[in-house]
Amino acid sequence: MAHWLDFHASTPLINAPCPLAWHPQQLQELADSPLGAIMTKSVTLAPRQGNPTPREYYSEPFTLNAVGLANDGIQAHLDYLAQVQTTKPRWLSVSGFTVTEYCQLVELATASGVVDAIELNLSCPNTESQLFADSPDAVAAILQQCDHTLPLGLKLPPLQAPPLQAALVQVATAGGASFLTASNTLGHCRFTDPTGQSVLTANGGYGGLSGPALLPASLATVSSLRTLLDAAGSDITLIGVGGVQSAADVHRYLAAGADRVGLASALHVHGLGIIDQIVSQL
Ligand SMILES: Cc1cc2nc3c(=O)[nH]c(=O)nc-3n(C[C@H](O)[C@H](O)[C@H](O)COP(=O)(O)O)c2cc1C
Repeated sequence: MAHWLDFHASTPLINAPCPLAWHPQQLQELADSPLGAIMTKSVTLAPRQGNPTPREYYSEPFTLNAVGLANDGIQAHLDYLAQVQTTKPRWLSVSGFTVTEYCQLVELATASGVVDAIELNLSCPNTESQLFADSPDAVAAILQQCDHTLPLGLKLPPLQAPPLQAALVQVATAGGASFLTASNTLGHCRFTDPTGQSVLTANGGYGGLSGPALLPASLATVSSLRTLLDAAGSDITLIGVGGVQSAADVHRYLAAGADRVGLASALHVHGLGIIDQIVSQL
């Protein structure tokens, strides 16, 4: 097992959860790329079909998705992760619908022996349930009740109001979170053809925005979280995600106070070759 933050070859890059981090072969390709660590897509206790297709729209300036946490259930994904040959850290992204579910997911991941860190996805905008990240009390309950054998991180949405961000940083610090990730997609966005028809049929045509159009929002989120963490004297690791497609973007996040940097949409739009490009420019 690798130490969770011991990124390979001094690269600060990790993939963010997305459908390209699903099956064993895909995870192996990510592990074989110059990424410093790999992350699964978000997994739930039971398998989920997710929303009807089309539920993903990719373009250069932005991506919209309403996948809705489609996955094969945590047991299958732990098995997929176990098949990956790598010395790089393996992070698992989990999504629960109750506090108890998050704790069960953490317990299963910990018992598996194939996970180095767990990202608690508290910010998926594409299901019926409310965002856990909108309730500091719920996040506190998760951190209080779940096992902390493995490092636990909180994945947050972009552009939360400053008082809510401050409350979450307080809860994360008091609750022993090891990292914060900012950010998930910006929820409830819509893009249509000129007749007004949404590019997504799923979720009423609404989806989460990612890719370059998200970069300024995520960068702002990372900057303000860094200010709050520093003011709290916290050593919680900060992961910046959103719109990364070049070495300059990675530097933007590092300059904003991120310790590590993630990317998802660029992998879908440009292919895994973009990782080589970015890393060679860093
Ligand atoms: C198709 C798609 C599916 C995604 N699924 C997940 C997911 O399962 N869990 C999660 O935490 N984030 C998910 N995300 C969000 C990404 O991990 C990332 O936070 C967001 O897209 C911003 O980064 P990017 O601009 O590099 O894509 C998904 C993003 C895309 C594009």
